[in-house]
Amino acid sequence: MGEAMGGDGHPPICDYEGSSYRTDFWVGQGREYEDGAERVALRRLLPPTGRRLLEIGAGFGRLADLYAGYERVILLDYSRSQLEYARSRLGDERFIYVAADLYRLPLAANAVDTAVMVRVLHHLTDVPLALGHIARALRPQGAFILEFANKRHLKNIARYLLRRGANPFTREPYEFTELHYDFHPAWVREQLNDAGLRPQRRLSVSLLRAGVLKRAVGADLLVAIDGAFQRITAPLTPGASVFVRSVAKRAGDPALVDEERLFCCPACGDTPLSRVAEGHRCVGCGAHWPIVNGVHVFK
Ligand SMILES: C[S@@+](CC[C@H](N)C(=O)[O-])C[C@H]1O[C@@H](n2cnc3c(N)ncnc32)[C@H](O)[C@@H]1O
Repeated sequence: MGEAMGGDGHPPICDYEGSSYRTDFWVGQGREYEDGAERVALRRLLPPTGRRLLEIGAGFGRLADLYAGYERVILLDYSRSQLEYARSRLGDERFIYVAADLYRLPLAANAVDTAVMVRVLHHLTDVPLALGHIARALRPQGAFILEFANKRHLKNIARYLLRRGANPFTREPYEFTELHYDFHPAWVREQLNDAGLRPQRRLSVSLLRAGVLKRAVGADLLVAIDGAFQRITAPLTPGASVFVRSVAKRAGDPALVDEERLFCCPACGDTPLSRVAEGHRCVGCGAHWPIVNGVHVFK
């Protein structure tokens, strides 16, 4: 993974273009427990049906099979290569693939009724900017399901007590390696509220993320135990990962925009785009955004 500069003073991006994230991190890498526990949490928090769902930082589409109840699913990621892999697996029938930077989200207001973001917040240096874009793209009363890496999890507390780690109780994000952050649950709650997203329900996930447990107990049993504790441990959030469902507080017409008006220009704000051969053109600044290998490219 590299670092891409957003340009024009925009925040840096953890760039997965051309990375083998799927095989380096997931396939055959002993993370069936984490994958299973995240699926249990997402299923619990996700409105099961809807018209349009957006997954931000969707990568290679690991979680896309959970969106079967949605008519249209927008998989958005900064990396075109991740999306091209997703497309080769999922096809075009219900899915729309968008290569774009979350900090310049090319989606119109009221674009979707549900948004999901898993394992992405930990790469973000400007959380308010990112959440502001998500709140705008959601319809009033739409749902946002966010996963984030938990700074105040049990292992970090133990490390701190043994004087081997940073203080997990302070509110500010902790950068444990470049462009990788852990967040305090209370800090994330504040950020969501400030962005116009009211947290409603949260789950504490991946409490059992330890090599010794994974070797001793099968992934299926670990997932079942994790699932049984996600709700009751939520107030203390001892798990490595937290899932929160928020609702968009914005008042107004909850109707979604028509699909022809789904995109807006990331270069000049929320100007609508007109469809041209092989892409989109901004009626304001004239920028051309192509469609390459079935992916709408806005970067
Ligand atoms: C750790 S991967 C997670 C992928 C997927 N959500 C999952 O859980 O399997 C992080 C993803 O976030 C994407 N990403 C990071 N910064 C981004 C940004 N500013 N805009 C859009 N996507 C971004 C990366 O390209 C990468 O695919």
